[in-house]
Amino acid sequence: MAVTALAAELKAAGRDVIGLGAGEPDFDTPDHIKAAANDAIARGDTKYTAVDGTPALKKAVAAKFKRENGLDYEPSQISVACGGKHIIYNAMMATLDPGDEVIIPAPYWVSYPDIVLLAGGKPVIVSAGMDQGFKMTPAQLEAAITPKTKWLILNSPSNPTGAAFSRDELKALAAVLVKHPQVWILTDDIYEHLVYDDFEFTTLAQVEPKLYDRTLTMNGVSKAYAMTGWRIGYAAGAKELIKAMAVIQSQSTSNPCSISQAAALAALNGPQDFLPGWRKAFKERRDRVCELLNAAPGLTCPVPEGAFYVYPDCSGLIGKTTKEGQRLDDDSAVATWLLESEGVAVVQGAAFGLSPCFRISYATSLSVLEDACGRIQRACASLK
Ligand SMILES: Cc1ncc(COP(=O)(O)O)c(C=O)c1O
Repeated sequence: MAVTALAAELKAAGRDVIGLGAGEPDFDTPDHIKAAANDAIARGDTKYTAVDGTPALKKAVAAKFKRENGLDYEPSQISVACGGKHIIYNAMMATLDPGDEVIIPAPYWVSYPDIVLLAGGKPVIVSAGMDQGFKMTPAQLEAAITPKTKWLILNSPSNPTGAAFSRDELKALAAVLVKHPQVWILTDDIYEHLVYDDFEFTTLAQVEPKLYDRTLTMNGVSKAYAMTGWRIGYAAGAKELIKAMAVIQSQSTSNPCSISQAAALAALNGPQDFLPGWRKAFKERRDRVCELLNAAPGLTCPVPEGAFYVYPDCSGLIGKTTKEGQRLDDDSAVATWLLESEGVAVVQGAAFGLSPCFRISYATSLSVLEDACGRIQRACASLK
């Protein structure tokens, strides 16, 4: 968000800037979802609802988990909040005591460590570099678990890398987790629908039923339905946890916007036929961006399984000198230099806890991406 704001500022000042920082699809919310929101307003669905979601939306969420993930949940096991971020916040606020540890594999989505800190917990970062496909191994997980571990946060497909765990990889992590009953698991599945090629999305509670009772399966409509501004996320898990999260929510935001809930209901229950077209567009962009970045001297860009990000390693640029005589010491310097020299806004790996890399969001048109990658190639080739 900060990078997008800076790029917009430079653009407003007349600079030719391409922003590749956005964490949201460039598609518009589908019309039938907007129509459901209009209907909700016309019908007078404009009052308070149950704190953690209308019964109708909870039923739709339960049906989604059954239909798409083979998971059975009752409405009392479901929570609806103001975005996926809010679900994570509620879960941490409801459960963390001072000193409790939360394992967060890096690179991570920027909000995880800060939410844990806000809730009084201690983030325990496990580095998973490009050499291991940006995926934490079972041995790393085992080594990070202590008697104080309360949660593991697992995000697949990942922001910022797009890496996603296969069924077998999840099973191997699950084999470690079943041995440690004090550890709860929050799976952030918000990019579930954005996976490419033959990759098959699976989630932990589905892969290992023994972990069902202590897994909070989180998802939302932001990314799959291009609804980032509507602010609806949801999760399913143990009844007591869901109840505790509702207590936090009832003393902070109260219910998520009633109109957005009606829209999310239409998203989950309505036609899903636009998704293959969106996936096709994203896959085409991913492939082209990876091809162009890998042709830039000093960059290595793995092809990820999902989401709409790539996370090229830029260790080949570190220590080099720019035309202006500046030495590039780290990925923050690389990001600043790309913005200043070529007007391309990317996010430095330092923000996601794993360097030297940067994140590019390919949620923009192919022609813009080709222009941006061409500029990056030119910049990289100019270094000494
Ligand atoms: C991995 C991940 N989890 C959760 C979220 C939050 O999504 P929401 O808009 O539903 O709060 C994001 C948004 O960028 C994300 O990338």
